[in-house]
Amino acid sequence: MGVLSVVLRALRPGTTVVVVATGALVLTGCAGSSLSQSGGEQAAGAVKIGLLVPLSGVYAPLGEDMRNGFQLYLDQHGGKLGGSTAEVVSADEGEGPQTGVPAAQKLVTQDQVTAVVGVVNSATALGLRDFFHESKKPLLIANAGANDITGARKSEYVWRTSFANGKVSAALGAAVAKEVKGDVYLIAADYAAGKEMVAGFRKTFEAAGGKVAGEKYTPFGKTQDFQPFLSAIRGSGAKAVYSFYAGAEAVSFVKQYRQFGLADGTPLYGTGFLTEGGVLDAQGEAAAGVKTSLHYSTELDTPRNKEFVAAYRKAYNEAPTVYAVQAYDSAAVLDKALPKAPGGTGDELVKALGGVGPVDSPRGQWSFGADQDAEQKYYLREVRSSGGTVVNAVVGELSAVQ
Ligand code: PHB
Repeated sequence: MGVLSVVLRALRPGTTVVVVATGALVLTGCAGSSLSQSGGEQAAGAVKIGLLVPLSGVYAPLGEDMRNGFQLYLDQHGGKLGGSTAEVVSADEGEGPQTGVPAAQKLVTQDQVTAVVGVVNSATALGLRDFFHESKKPLLIANAGANDITGARKSEYVWRTSFANGKVSAALGAAVAKEVKGDVYLIAADYAAGKEMVAGFRKTFEAAGGKVAGEKYTPFGKTQDFQPFLSAIRGSGAKAVYSFYAGAEAVSFVKQYRQFGLADGTPLYGTGFLTEGGVLDAQGEAAAGVKTSLHYSTELDTPRNKEFVAAYRKAYNEAPTVYAVQAYDSAAVLDKALPKAPGGTGDELVKALGGVGPVDSPRGQWSFGADQDAEQKYYLREVRSSGGTVVNAVVGELSAVQ
């Protein structure tokens, strides 16, 4: 954990943190206070970027990974984005739109950032779409997968460096239909992302001949005891399970799945968030054998990824995650686009985002599609023991479904 992480962990929700890329920290009070005497204007030769990630709630560890990924890119590039010194203003997304929307509004209206990066939760992203569209400010979503953000409610001001829920889940459906002989139970957190992750999987799974044994959504952020749901799975006679959980919920679900005795006879599948990073460390051997789809694994055997994993480990003393990569790539994309937006306006910047071309990422090369979403490869991963720890081994490549 870096010094920044230690400081941020101690902060209460709502605190604003200004990080000048040299590593100096300037802490200001909670929402409503001014960042500087210049009323939020950025220093000459600097570019101010808002980082909106959860610093509290069930997804706080994901937010920490994203801050680390963004900061690593800055540290590797002399603290600059597009030739200007980057001044990063952090704000707490919290657990959803109730906290995330006002935090984003403050970044734009009071702190007057050039762009906002971050957003973990699909419901927050959906709640933010109109605000960014109307304020003509660029929002680079570095996680939240809500399908409509780059679909029915697409805006020229909203771009995504991560994934769409429907795509990362659809990538797995046909593989599971082929592998499992019998019906599959679907279970997920009860909010926008859980619903879309199940729908995306179901579409390709059923199209490939798969049959559903049952479907259940568990209260988001509130479920600690999964026993009643695990009993229902057992009672359904399902031969396998597909699930979406992330963060703290993923730890509880996978551990209890093993403790309940389901893991040996009923293989568990999911989107890769189920076994990612600190979540997998906490699950340990309980996660062995879980198979997931994702656009990243620390185990990707490429020089670009090896170099990234080594640099991340050196900086934070832990392995990176998909969340860190998505934020790192958001910084890379801004680095490429900002020189083409010398006036710093939203219109200039979004036009430049359309021209960034392929991104040489630790996940493999990707680029923005016409929908302003990441076009990328998806990998089939399996949790395996390796060198006294558990990792997401890459066992195949999945075909991307549009
Ligand atoms: C989402 O809400 O879109 C979401 C949250 C956490 C994840 C993946 C997706 O790990």
